[in-house]
Amino acid sequence: MITGAASGIGRGLARRLSALGSPVAIADIDEDGLAKTAASLSGRVLSRVLDVRDAADQVRFAAEVRAWLPAPLAAVFNNAGVAVTSSVLDAVPEDDDWLHDINFKGVVNGTRAFLPILVEQDDGVIVNTSSVFGLAGMPYQSAYCAAKFAVRGFTEALRQELRGTGVRAVTVHPGGVTTNIARNARMRKDPLGLGRTREQMAAQFEAITLTSPDKAAMIIHRGVEAGKARILVGPDAYLFDALTRVAPTHYYSVIARLRSTLGARRGEAV
Ligand SMILES: NC(=O)c1ccc[n+]([C@@H]2O[C@H](COP(=O)([O-])OP(=O)(O)OC[C@H]3O[C@@H](n4cnc5c(N)ncnc54)[C@H](O)[C@@H]3O)[C@@H](O)[C@H]2O)c1
Repeated sequence: MITGAASGIGRGLARRLSALGSPVAIADIDEDGLAKTAASLSGRVLSRVLDVRDAADQVRFAAEVRAWLPAPLAAVFNNAGVAVTSSVLDAVPEDDDWLHDINFKGVVNGTRAFLPILVEQDDGVIVNTSSVFGLAGMPYQSAYCAAKFAVRGFTEALRQELRGTGVRAVTVHPGGVTTNIARNARMRKDPLGLGRTREQMAAQFEAITLTSPDKAAMIIHRGVEAGKARILVGPDAYLFDALTRVAPTHYYSVIARLRSTLGARRGEAV
């Protein structure tokens, strides 16, 4: 089962798992995108419009998946997510709440809905998508970082509860992946005061991403198959992980220097 399967990493996971012969249950709030994903799959697919914020509907969906599946449920990918760009000073509470409800509560809802199935089977994996922004704090990403750190804390706590059982809880920390996330982000104004539009900022984000959605899906799938508890996606994710260990209070000095060097090469404001 994969949420956020209408686009990006979720679509990549659906295509990969389906191509390998697995039935896939795919869910998203975006009906058109979901239909496109479903149409691109050759194997068995259960396609369901779902808002991950709706806990009761997640429970209904879990029952549908269980009834539909010919075999035990192998993995639950709580992947759907959105972004908000704003300084803390200018934050619009409604935008931050929107993000927290999807990126954190959506993951909790999905975990609560599907975990009983896995526990009953005593088998399977809950795979929750955090981010490198769940490892490091980044300016103008306070809501996103807070939600992704929360996903990490929630999933790591669950992992300990599941010790000694056949069920695993896995955290995914992608670095930059070339998806629609920045184009669909909420942004009221350029936090740097440079007057950039959302499209311009999205293009800048996409220019520094190092991983395609298909590659991300491959890394996540292989990581789950290899029994990893924590999956880093992309070389930038390894860099973030190392920096936050080596310089837990100063990592951003290094990241800012790298960003300005890369941006200056492209003649951008960073
Ligand atoms: N792209 C990156 O650089 C990156 C980096 C780190 C983490 N992530 C995380 O990876 C996950 C996948 O994002 P992506 O990059 O593929 O973005 P994306 O925008 O391409 O896909 C996200 C999907 O989530 C869906 N979605 C949004 N709100 C929803 C809701 N309420 N209910 C159900 N579905 C909803 C969207 O419709 C979309 O199809 C997200 O959790 C994101 O935070 C992405």
